[in-house]
Amino acid sequence: MNKVFKVGLVGCGHIAETYFRAHKYFNNFKIIKCADIKEKASKTCAKRYGIKSLSVKDLLKDKEIEIILNLTIPKAHYKVAKNALLHNKHVYSEKPMAINLKNGKELVKMAKRKKLYIGNAPDTFLGGGNQKSKEILEKKLIGKINLGNAIFAFPGVQSYHPNPEPWFAKKEGGPVIDMGPYYLTALVNLLGPAKEVSGSIMRGVKKRTIGIGPKKGRKFKVKCPTTYLATIVFENKTIIRLTLSFDVIAHQRNHIEFYGNKGSMIVPDPNMFGGSVYVCKKLGESWKEHKTNKMPLGKINIRGKSLRANESPINANYRGVGLSEMAYCIEKKKRHRCNGELSLHVLDIIQSTMKASITGKKQKIKTTCQIPKKFNLKEIKKIMR
Ligand SMILES: NC(=O)c1ccc[n+]([C@@H]2O[C@H](COP(=O)([O-])OP(=O)(O)OC[C@H]3O[C@@H](n4cnc5c(N)ncnc54)[C@H](O)[C@@H]3O)[C@@H](O)[C@H]2O)c1
Repeated sequence: MNKVFKVGLVGCGHIAETYFRAHKYFNNFKIIKCADIKEKASKTCAKRYGIKSLSVKDLLKDKEIEIILNLTIPKAHYKVAKNALLHNKHVYSEKPMAINLKNGKELVKMAKRKKLYIGNAPDTFLGGGNQKSKEILEKKLIGKINLGNAIFAFPGVQSYHPNPEPWFAKKEGGPVIDMGPYYLTALVNLLGPAKEVSGSIMRGVKKRTIGIGPKKGRKFKVKCPTTYLATIVFENKTIIRLTLSFDVIAHQRNHIEFYGNKGSMIVPDPNMFGGSVYVCKKLGESWKEHKTNKMPLGKINIRGKSLRANESPINANYRGVGLSEMAYCIEKKKRHRCNGELSLHVLDIIQSTMKASITGKKQKIKTTCQIPKKFNLKEIKKIMR
């Protein structure tokens, strides 16, 4: 039986519910205490889940807590993670690890020095969709990949989020910081590290209108570019055209497509865990479906319309697996998959993509990382209930 790690949650907002739900799937962590800068948020969360609410300071000092789960907003990730490490606790943060590379580097260095684990979402690349894609690539079904496309495009969160302003803020706003982590982590998991990026931007409308909640109808300023069109060259020479946009009403392009010398492949939504992979080996032939719905981290566990943008009506969501796998690796003294080196490299691609696109100058990506190992059934079974 695995050791059950005692987890302290910092940041009791929307995504917290998904991590409490993860207790149902994974056997080696338990969120036992929580905290938030807004005391009310922490108290409400504690009451809902029958746990204890503390101040952030007391939670960090709490001797019982072994891992801090950092579900605060992106610009607070660095500070909360740093404080967790300073209090000698392992830390697992939501994406992105920080909003700039300098802070990310400091965290990774500090964790290494203190021999603590630092982990980060996204963990969606551990799901059936991305793992099945990895298996197909390793079997060389489409040969050597030369090119590919990746796209996330929608009209923005303002219509359904009561507080959409952070998505359009100057420093931490825009689609690359928000959705880039899912796409780029999935790409690095499948192709390996990236080495260079160029791009361009489009600034959409200057003001947007809030569509829901107490501020409904109120207009707010857009302070960042809302469309990025980038070209990323990977170390293995694959070239990916990446479109990330909050200015598109609708589209029918697939999430990620790879074009190899023996065929083409469609990778399912990197923001989710399941979905089928499709492969076509000859022009005009039908696409062969490779299902993931029988895989433990691909099995559909969400039906019906969810209010959250990250949950499509029929799909699989096993957020929290990255935290569980990290806990398992702490116990077994192994290298975890959602590790600091990977998130730092992804953060480097994010920052470089934004810089290259805004300045029009190609950027070299200075960090690198090991390609995460395939997450095999035996390993998955060990942490699942
Ligand atoms: N909401 C989603 O569907 C979703 C999906 C995937 C990932 N995420 C990521 O999860 C994180 C949280 O998102 P959310 O939607 O839950 O945000 P949220 O705004 O609903 O919640 C964040 C909470 O953190 C608290 N907080 C902020 N700064 C803090 C600090 N310094 N110390 C303690 N508490 C602090 C806030 O008071 C708030 O209660 C973000 O990084 C986001 O990118 C969210």
